Amino acid sequence: MDSIRVVGGNPISGQVTVHGAKNAVLKHMVAMLLAPGRYRLDNVPGILDVDIMGEVLDHVGATCVRRGSVIEVDVPEELNPEAPLDLVRRMRASILILGALLARMGTARVALPGGDDFGSRPIGMHLEGLEQMGAEFELRHGVLEGSAPNGLSGTEIFLEFPSVGATENLLLAAVLAKGRTVIGNAAREPELADLAALLNAMGAEVEGAGTSTIEITGVPTLHPTDHTVVADRLVAGTYALAAAATGGTLEVRGCNPDFLRMELRKMEAAGCGVVRGDTWFSVVGPERPIAQDIATLPYPGFHTDMHPQMVAFLARAKGTSILTENVYAARFRYIGELNRMGADVHADGQHVVIRGVTDLSGCEVDGCDIRAAAALTIAGLSAEGETIIGDAEHIDRGYDGFVDILRSLGADIDR
Ligand code: EPU
Repeated sequence: MDSIRVVGGNPISGQVTVHGAKNAVLKHMVAMLLAPGRYRLDNVPGILDVDIMGEVLDHVGATCVRRGSVIEVDVPEELNPEAPLDLVRRMRASILILGALLARMGTARVALPGGDDFGSRPIGMHLEGLEQMGAEFELRHGVLEGSAPNGLSGTEIFLEFPSVGATENLLLAAVLAKGRTVIGNAAREPELADLAALLNAMGAEVEGAGTSTIEITGVPTLHPTDHTVVADRLVAGTYALAAAATGGTLEVRGCNPDFLRMELRKMEAAGCGVVRGDTWFSVVGPERPIAQDIATLPYPGFHTDMHPQMVAFLARAKGTSILTENVYAARFRYIGELNRMGADVHADGQHVVIRGVTDLSGCEVDGCDIRAAAALTIAGLSAEGETIIGDAEHIDRGYDGFVDILRSLGADIDR
């Protein structure tokens, strides 16, 4: 197992340009299965999840070639419409091939993903929406077998919760369905709007992506295209919080600050100086933050994937903060690790109570998951002494060049 070693005390300062968004590119790769031909994606991060999605595409019959930040994908006429358990277990986003393959091939087999560290994570909304469009599902030996004997037809679907994955699965199915689909209470994430932009460039007719009502008029066929992936706002926010926690001054380039509206607002209230440009923003960290109350919510609310990093920042706040986790049932494993570093944090139901301490002290901690590992790195950067973050592979799932970038911004850090 790999680990990251950090010696705290250096401010994170300078300039960083963020790469393309993990949670956009993974969906773009699936969207390409909707039409045969050759595609090119730019601004693709060099992260593990892209490699795993490349394996999913390989399994389905497409070929993926990466050159630096570009991937080229060749999609054949005939596909093998299935995602096996080992790939789905390694990456839940594999479930998105359901909608695309049902639309393109009328059949799809995907191993049912189990729960994970964030809770049980059901996919009922994905399946109910696809059933409303004419799909039928059977669970046999742990594998979901989907078919659309009469093809998929547009309909009105109102989601119980603005699930990102359910909205995307339905969107991918609807672009080739017969007639008009309306998705109400849709997720509004910028990555979803970027997926719709790619689909429209492929010849789809999608309106309203980025708002809570998406209208799709099905078309008979789509065609390949080139696309540049939107910036990763979670990477941008993570580096911003690293600067904030260390009293640094950082300019974050390549990301629209509107994508982090609530996160930057909370950082300002905590005492950070924030300046916003069109595709950049800068952050100046306070000596010690002021405690904040925060609730995670679907976009444009405070992002759940910024929750552990924000708690790491608030661990040294003056006063007591309360962060309420509304998106996941269980995202609290990192708390015990943070407390080993001297933080005073506990979870009470969905509420995380953070009593600010003056100092953290470095020690060995377990990376737990991608955002937890990022949060523990932020804690290590602001702690006294050396922190070793184990299971550092989690970082590779979503952050390209994490350790090198932090070192270039002044951190005493290595892998
Ligand atoms: N949910 C249901 N039923 C469903 C679908 C979702 O109950 O049918 C629940 C989930 O269990 C969860 C909540 O709804 O509690 C939100 O789930 P959502 O479907 O919105 O999330 P997702 O599509 O599975 C994506 C990101 C996550 C991010 C969430 C929330 C990707 C690949 N993953 O997951 O990203 O946390 O949206 O914004 O896009 C990460 O990048 O670290 C990460 C975990």
